[in-house]
Amino acid sequence: MSNDKNSLLFQMNNVSIAYNTKRGALKAVQNASFSINERESAALIGESGCGKTTLATSIVDALPNAAAITSGEMLYKAADGKTVDLLKLSRGQMRRLLWDDISMVFQASQSSFNPVCKIRTQFVDTVRAHRKGVSNKQIDEMSRALLETVHLDAEKVLDSFPHEISGGMKQRTLIALSLLLDPRLVILDEPTTALDILTQEKILKLLRQLKDDKGFSLLFITHDLSIVSELADKVITMYAGIIVESAPVKEFFSNPKHPYSSGLIHAIPRLTDTDDELFSIPGNPPDLITLRKGCPFAPRCSRCVPQCHEELPPFEQVRADHYCACWNPVSEGVHHG
Ligand SMILES: Nc1ncnc2c1ncn2[C@@H]1O[C@H](COP(=O)(O)OP(=O)(O)OP(=O)(O)O)[C@@H](O)[C@H]1O
Ligand code: SF4
Ligand SMILES: [Mg+2]
Repeated sequence: MSNDKNSLLFQMNNVSIAYNTKRGALKAVQNASFSINERESAALIGESGCGKTTLATSIVDALPNAAAITSGEMLYKAADGKTVDLLKLSRGQMRRLLWDDISMVFQASQSSFNPVCKIRTQFVDTVRAHRKGVSNKQIDEMSRALLETVHLDAEKVLDSFPHEISGGMKQRTLIALSLLLDPRLVILDEPTTALDILTQEKILKLLRQLKDDKGFSLLFITHDLSIVSELADKVITMYAGIIVESAPVKEFFSNPKHPYSSGLIHAIPRLTDTDDELFSIPGNPPDLITLRKGCPFAPRCSRCVPQCHEELPPFEQVRADHYCACWNPVSEGVHHG
């Protein structure tokens, strides 16, 4: 793997995904474009239901049957230097890339362990499905090494059933499992949600360390902007199925361009805030089945201009590696729109 942080690993271009529902097509993702470089860590943020999980699961070909990718490409630069469009691969070709090249820990995946199998079986099955001619002893060694890297008692965990270990241990085990075949892109959907603060801190520290040691790229979904500031190099903001901003982390916090990103930053509780002072973005996100023309954030946006109600703003470059979709972006130094 190259050590070059500027070398492109994954690029999504204009991907749209819709769910077939009784009420009609639900536009969960519209024209999404973003990229991740080698060794880069990207955070995907936005309110519940804005399409984060849909976007992430589409990369690993794990969308529910009701979903269809209606446009776009997902370019992945393989280890041999060749670029492939994941959407053009057959199921078999895609399966070969999973775990080895791209792995994902799903949202609320702690329940995804098979309850009647010991953890050891889940590690053995994962390797067996992807590597031929690896002995049980070798698999055991690989599993132990990784579980120790995530600071778990390997022997105890491998011999446990899922219900015998705590939530934090399960999450660390899943992270170890996702790294078992040394992938180049790891996707984590809310890796610390539902864990207590101390366990969250431990997992965060662990992820930072693993990322530095192993050199994989990371796409992680979170609601927590403090995790973003600690783990991300780049922040991708989604609103109502649309990527509205993508920015280097420092610039995201210091100079957000999209009024929604700016609102999210302003809504972070600070120790000095009293309840009265805490800002929250008024209103609710729109229904993704009956979207009206124009910018979907318009009904909630204090920077709205007449054009916002007419036309969807294009996702355009505003600075180096900084993109935004807005007709009236926030000016430098203004902290919320
Ligand atoms: N299987 C499905 N069938 C129909 N609609 C779905 C399905 N899964 C998700 N959706 C809808 O797609 C939209 C995006 O959902 P998604 O789960 O991707 O959001 P999210 O940003 O991950 O939310 P959260 O933060 O709550 O996890 C939502 O409106 C959701 O109701
Ligand atoms: S396009 Fe208009 S409504 Fe939408 S975020 Fe920008 S200023 Fe607000
Ligand atoms: Mg989700």
